[in-house]
Amino acid sequence: MADKKARLMVDGIDDPIELPVYSGTEGPDVVDVRPLSAKGLFTYDPGFVATAACESSITYIDGDKGILLHRGYPIEQLAEKSDYLEVCYLLLNGELPTAEEKAQFVDIVMHHTMVHEQISYFFRGFRRDAHPMAIMVACVGALSAFYHDSLDINDPYHREVCAFRLIAKMPTLAAMCYKYSIGQPFMYPRNDLGYAENFLRMMFGTPCEEYQANPVLAKAMDLIFLLHADHEQNASTSTVRLAGSSGANPFACIASGIAALWGPAHGGANEAVLAMLQEIGDESRIPEFIKRAKDPDDSFRLMGFGHRVYHNFDPRAKVLKASCDQVLTELGIENDPLLKIATRLEQVALEDDYFVKRKLYPNVDFYSGIIMKAIGIPTSMFTVIFALARTIGWISHWSEFHSSPNRIGRPRQLYTGQHKRDYPG
Ligand code: SDX
Repeated sequence: MADKKARLMVDGIDDPIELPVYSGTEGPDVVDVRPLSAKGLFTYDPGFVATAACESSITYIDGDKGILLHRGYPIEQLAEKSDYLEVCYLLLNGELPTAEEKAQFVDIVMHHTMVHEQISYFFRGFRRDAHPMAIMVACVGALSAFYHDSLDINDPYHREVCAFRLIAKMPTLAAMCYKYSIGQPFMYPRNDLGYAENFLRMMFGTPCEEYQANPVLAKAMDLIFLLHADHEQNASTSTVRLAGSSGANPFACIASGIAALWGPAHGGANEAVLAMLQEIGDESRIPEFIKRAKDPDDSFRLMGFGHRVYHNFDPRAKVLKASCDQVLTELGIENDPLLKIATRLEQVALEDDYFVKRKLYPNVDFYSGIIMKAIGIPTSMFTVIFALARTIGWISHWSEFHSSPNRIGRPRQLYTGQHKRDYPG
């Protein structure tokens, strides 16, 4: 029920248009603009800067204060005390699991990690140098073919089975992308390993010898998964929700989220940050790139900087920066030249009025790539890792959408094309 009202006066309409105003548990109130259509009016908000597209209880972001909550728990506390699969349980179910619930959840996930053997034939159709995100879009979408008939999206149990399958199989598919690109055999998952440990073994192990993941790197990998798990109604999550609103198969919906995430303005930024740092190459060239980033006539942007919602530090970037230092020290590369360039670049940008005035701060993508590179993950796989981690966010929002009455999403437009005209002759 609306606890407040907005009254809109529009030239040419005598009476004010009354619009209900709703308050959430946190964050800005929202104005319900649906009554406008009865008056022959649409709202206009390209890029959805001021549009709440749905009601959700999964994640809350306060961009001005740099706050990120998953089901009410601050990301900093989850990063310190939880792990990725526990956060998966939290995002899906709304509460932290008991020790018994967590053990059961982990056991189910780790016993769904294999993919159908036929999936390996999909890879044969790609060149070895195909971008792994292209392969992921294809293979995750193709999972629909294996499960399409066993799926009633209105059945909570069926939705839960989908979630388990996707959480469990994304690391396997991601590692298969990497193995295929380097001509090594696929590694089958191991049910006795932790989630991140199992992923690192599928990435870097071979059938020729035992592989033991470095526990510091496995912890850093799990932290990267955790920090990328969900982020409210970002571009890829909104894509998944919109695809889901048509009743599409969840695997097809997640494939649409992977496609949307790929762009350099979104999840593709982590790959672009590394390319940028490598192009800068030396701290002495930082002023040249800062100048380019500020030049309105130059399309270059400081990758890993800025955010639609955060006008303060992205809390995930802060956690990742601390993890960066720890991983590089563990590997004895604390003097990594890319980290030095990144740290100096951040200092210079945060002192420059152009960035300060626009409240442009490092985001989640600024440091994640440096950690992944240190772990040994190739740059082309960075966004695949983001997609792997974000799958729980996507499927939680998809499931939330289908757990209450819903309608197909169908935005309208401001039409500025031709008036009606007749075909000549
Ligand atoms: C993610 O939404 C999410 O939650 C996404 C995400 C998630 O977890 O799902 O957090 C993950 O996508 C993080 C963002 C990763 N992208 C990048 O790092 C790419 C670089 N950043 C920019 O492209 C940009 O900051 C965006 C896309 C992130 C945000 O774009 P907006 O909100 O549309 O902001 P804008 O383009 O309107 O910029 C406002 C001003 C402009 O200058 P003016 O026209 O006012 O003069 O700031 C400038 C922009 O030119 N600006 C930048 C800049 N980002 C914005 N200038 C230089 N470098 C940048 N990085």
